[in-house]
Amino acid sequence: MSLSRMVNNLKESDSFKVLSYAKQLERQGKKIIHFEIGEPDFDTDQKIKDALWDALSRGETHYTASQGILSLREEIARYEKRFRNIEVSPDNIVITPGGKPILLFVLMAILNEGDEVLVPSPGYLSYASLVRFAGGRPIYYNINIYERNTINPDEIKSKITRRTKAIIINYPSNPTGRMASATDLLEILEIVRDRKIPVISDEVYSRITYENEHISITKMAEKEDMDLIVVVDGFSKTYAMTGWRLGWGVLPNVLIKPVVKIIQNSISCVPPFVQYAGIVALQDGDNFIKHMVKEFKKRRDTIFDMLLESDRIEVPKPEGAFYFFPHIVDLKMTSVEFTKGLLEKYGVAMLPGSAFGPTGEGHIRLSFANSLENLQKGVQYLLDYLKELK
Ligand SMILES: Cc1ncc(COP(=O)(O)O)c(C=O)c1O
Repeated sequence: MSLSRMVNNLKESDSFKVLSYAKQLERQGKKIIHFEIGEPDFDTDQKIKDALWDALSRGETHYTASQGILSLREEIARYEKRFRNIEVSPDNIVITPGGKPILLFVLMAILNEGDEVLVPSPGYLSYASLVRFAGGRPIYYNINIYERNTINPDEIKSKITRRTKAIIINYPSNPTGRMASATDLLEILEIVRDRKIPVISDEVYSRITYENEHISITKMAEKEDMDLIVVVDGFSKTYAMTGWRLGWGVLPNVLIKPVVKIIQNSISCVPPFVQYAGIVALQDGDNFIKHMVKEFKKRRDTIFDMLLESDRIEVPKPEGAFYFFPHIVDLKMTSVEFTKGLLEKYGVAMLPGSAFGPTGEGHIRLSFANSLENLQKGVQYLLDYLKELK
């Protein structure tokens, strides 16, 4: 059987590839410490689980509107007002199984074969894949990992062509943990206004921030700018609900019908009992977030100090999300070879920086969604490995 160009263009997710190799080593009896997967290691709050059971007991077990149940969209609209301080109509909100499908469905709705989308490097590894999946071409722009302002607007402008159909931004960033500065966001907004190119603002880590609160690009936007802004958010990271598959998009009017049509013709809807549980998360989840972020901060501070013990590691302190993206100074091998060696020799699983775009080479990504005890043990192994490689 021959396979389609579309599927051949799809990349296997590097994080799932490393996870499956690590699991294979575990089956052979090796002890593995996992720092490769990007999900909170906290259990979902009991109140949210109870809400799912209640909805099931009430018989909420059938198809729902493809756009999502109205009461969840209304709750999200209230959340948007509270958290992003924007007035959003429930009609502009679309519910999907996680934030990732919003990315895909919006790209499917706006791209024709060969259209271009600007994606960050280093950046979330699915962006380039999703753009290709939707028939487009990813064009990378660089993220300054160490500067206060993380983007270079002139570089972005120089990469815009008549085929550019969107710019994807992500802050706090996976993999760097950096947040966008107000200057970054204003520069992007200016490009969006001047060139009339939509921005897809991936804010799935917006509640996991340490020193400063998240600023959304929507905070600086005028009402008419919202015609060119898509916000992607979800429950996975904020409420430790990665396996529930629940997310949302705030979409301009013009995208609602096309995206809902794609949902109707593919996944139909998100299970209603999951959506009802989402309402309780939004209403009652703030204490859970506070607790989780406090724990992440403790780990971040301890591990940051440990990483700096090595003169072969350069790394900015993450301002949000739960990743370190250390640069290994004078690395005489690829990041794939380095992370493979670390996994096979010390049983520590991390992701190679090259998975995150062309400027990711020379780095590794370490998720600190693991216990402090495991983090200390695993990072000590990393330091030992670096000494041994000298
Ligand atoms: C930057 C970013 N965006 C989107 C997602 C997708 O998350 P989900 O589909 O679980 O909401 C992830 C998951 O790792 C991510 O890191």
